[in-house]
Amino acid sequence: MLRVVAGSANHSLANAVASALRLNRPQGTLVRFPDGELHPVIESVRGDDVYVVQPTGRAVNEHLVELLLLLDACRRGGADRVTAVVPYFGYARQDRRTAAGEAVGVRVVADAIAGAGADRLMVVDPHTVGLEATSAVPVEALTAVPVLADALANAVNGPAVVVSPDLGAAKLAERYADRLGLPVAVVRKSRVSGSAVRALEVVGDVEDRQTIIVDDMISTGGTIDAAARLLAARGARPGPVVAATHGLIVGPAPERFAALHLDRLLVTDTLTPTDAVPVEVCSIAALLADAITRLHDDKDIDDLVIHD
Ligand code: R5P
Repeated sequence: MLRVVAGSANHSLANAVASALRLNRPQGTLVRFPDGELHPVIESVRGDDVYVVQPTGRAVNEHLVELLLLLDACRRGGADRVTAVVPYFGYARQDRRTAAGEAVGVRVVADAIAGAGADRLMVVDPHTVGLEATSAVPVEALTAVPVLADALANAVNGPAVVVSPDLGAAKLAERYADRLGLPVAVVRKSRVSGSAVRALEVVGDVEDRQTIIVDDMISTGGTIDAAARLLAARGARPGPVVAATHGLIVGPAPERFAALHLDRLLVTDTLTPTDAVPVEVCSIAALLADAITRLHDDKDIDDLVIHD
């Protein structure tokens, strides 16, 4: 039997997925010991094909531990197959050592998820394509680009260009551009600190064009802020549109976005949406439900996943 188990990280997404699958609301309780230790308890999953929905956004470490405990509970509870559905996969930015003394966080987390009992991992627009190589269990990397691009289609007004705010998002920008029938420009950025970046140059024609800046995630907004300012300095039309799969929106992001006068800011509901900034939320519940239905029926999901 197909079953959805929800962690506490994003109840509304898990409920929407369950409802799209015509299942009851996911049940389960999360008890917290006085010292902070987590103690999630699930209903019987014996013999079931279980999908544990738990993005690992803020509070990242709590949500990660809760996910691991839920996976273990499913395995020990006799589930037939367990898929960790982690729409936002935290620690994916730590995909290599950029200096001595660093850890490769994505590997540590992927190992922990496989070790806790996941037979398969489902993610959405992961920060690193390297996740697949570091995971001991198969990874289904879905993409929210069609969902966001459809929402953007009616925003394109006259000459426009899709902008990647750094080299890392260039392939993502190409996927948007293909769907929207637009050219691509790429900003070269250099990171100064966790919350500050410098946009150094833009490659591509942005003058007198509406800009659609796309990224996999928005955290402090520094990347978008720097790109938008550089684009304005290079003659782009005022009021960029911004779209990102994961809206972490932390630290100075609200003040930065308030000062940018964006035309539109779109994110998905991989993470519980913030109300700190005016943001349009495009749900990926139908995407997840489609992928889950097909995987449960052992059907292909090739048209839903990233092929870079
Ligand atoms: C980095 O490579 C990512 O794709 C995002 O550009 C970055 O994490 C966004 O962070 P922030 O909003 O803090 O600049």
